[in-house]
Amino acid sequence: MEVKLRIKRYDSERDEKPHWQEFTVEAEPTDRVLDVLLHIKSYIDGTLVFRRSCAHGICGSDAMRINGLNRLACKTLVKDVSSPIEIEPLNGLPVIKDLIVDMQPFFEKFRIVKPYLVNDETPPPVEWRQTPEERERFDDTTKCILCASCTTSCPSFWTNREYLGPASLVQAHRFIFDSRDRAAAERLDVVNAREGVWRCRTIFNCAEACPREINITKAIGQLKKALVYNRF
Ligand code: SF4
Ligand code: F3S
Ligand code: FES
Repeated sequence: MEVKLRIKRYDSERDEKPHWQEFTVEAEPTDRVLDVLLHIKSYIDGTLVFRRSCAHGICGSDAMRINGLNRLACKTLVKDVSSPIEIEPLNGLPVIKDLIVDMQPFFEKFRIVKPYLVNDETPPPVEWRQTPEERERFDDTTKCILCASCTTSCPSFWTNREYLGPASLVQAHRFIFDSRDRAAAERLDVVNAREGVWRCRTIFNCAEACPREINITKAIGQLKKALVYNRF
């Protein structure tokens, strides 16, 4: 089938503003948008840049706006998006070039919530055991691949770039509700701060954008509840 694409191009070192460029390529309906982008880069215009690594929905590096919605290019089939396919960089992060955004501000917020297990106690001889119920509490939020689709689709983040954003809150949730961790109170202080969880207006864009289908809004709700009832 013939596929038309409109790709937003921009070079922060040369261009004053972005412009759209159109391409037409032959593709199979079951090709992914990433395949089409790779074809353009290999055979039509080598100057087009975008991030990708695993090509299988694992690394989270090829999140972009496809027909107005944040998606992973490697998980989006050509037949599932209407032509012309409009492709833009993620919204709300500085564009470096074409579809590549500067992820630094995103990862700074990620680091604030201490996204790692904190426990200075002497480890048990074999392993820290958890019941299935204890594991279940944070199961959903372990699935995050840090693609930034959620944060960059959140209107609260668009209007206030200081907001921690759903991705950081997902990371905070993942450790706060882990029975082996000992820094939940510190993390709750961070998410309770001015730019934390209360900036969420339950808009749901984040959950709709998440390629791992994490129930982000529910996780944020559980954080709010933990703060209100001082129970986690
Ligand atoms: Fe991506 Fe989902 Fe993680 Fe957000 S929560 S960064 S959308 S995987
Ligand atoms: Fe934003 Fe998601 Fe809350 S879109 S406002 S973080 S529910
Ligand atoms: Fe790794 Fe798409 S290239 S998630």
